[in-house]
Amino acid sequence: MSKTQNIQVCLVSDLFSNYTLSKNCIVVVVDLLRATSVISTAFHYGVKEVIPVSTLDAAKKYLNKLNTIVAAERNAESIDGFDYGNSPFQYMNNDIKDKTLVLTTTNGTKAIQIAKDYHVITASFINIDAVAKYLLDSDRDILILCSGWKGVFNLEDSIFAGHLINQLISIKEMNINCDSVLVSLELFKNAKGDYFQFLANSAHRKRLKHLNIEKDTIFCLNPDISSKIIPVLKNGKLEKLNL
Ligand code: MLT
Repeated sequence: MSKTQNIQVCLVSDLFSNYTLSKNCIVVVVDLLRATSVISTAFHYGVKEVIPVSTLDAAKKYLNKLNTIVAAERNAESIDGFDYGNSPFQYMNNDIKDKTLVLTTTNGTKAIQIAKDYHVITASFINIDAVAKYLLDSDRDILILCSGWKGVFNLEDSIFAGHLINQLISIKEMNINCDSVLVSLELFKNAKGDYFQFLANSAHRKRLKHLNIEKDTIFCLNPDISSKIIPVLKNGKLEKLNL
C-alpha cells in the first residue's frame, strides 16, 4: 500500500530553511526562466553532466578545462569571458555532446546549492512529464523549490509549481497542508494555460524583453522539445537519473 505523499511548495529559495522535510523528500528545483530550462535543454542535446556553482569565481576555475563548457549569467545577461550564457538556444548544438557544463546563474544554481543535502532533481516544461511520473512512482514526499528572483517571489516558477501539482493530484491523492501549494494551484488555474499572456506584466518577462531575449521566455513557457531526462544532483553534479 503506497503512503499518501506530502507535497509542499517553497515560493522563494531563501525560505527553504523554514521548511520541515522528511529525510527522503524529493526537492524539485525550478527556475523556469531560464536556468532549469537551460539544464533540460543541455541534457537533451547530449551534455554529460552539469556542475552548478554559486559564484563567478568558482566558475572561472573551470575555464579552459578539457571537454568543459563554462556558462555564466547575472541579471539575465551573459558574462564576458565565459563560453556560454543562460539562453537555451545556445545549447541547441552538437558541440556540447558528452561535455561537462559548469553553470552559474543569478538564482537557479543558488537554489540547487541551498537544497543540496536533499534528493534534488531539476524540472522545466521540457521534462515535466518525466518528472511527474517519477514523483508519482516514488511514494516520497515532495517539495517544489521555486528559485524566485534575488530572494523575492516570481510568478513563472510558482505557475510551474501549480501546473506540476495539478498534474500530480489529477492522478493521485496527495496530502496538502501548505498554503503555497494552494496559491500555486490558484495561479495555475487563473493563467488558463496562456502563461505568456498571464506573465505579460511579470518582472522577469519584462526584464528579458528589455534585453531583447523574449524568444527565450516564449520557448521556456512552451518548449518545442520534450525530454525524459531527469537531472539529479549527486556529489555536487547534476547527472541523468537512471530510471
Ligand atoms: C536565474 O537563474 O536567475 C535565471 O535563469 C536568470 C536568467 O538567466 O534569466
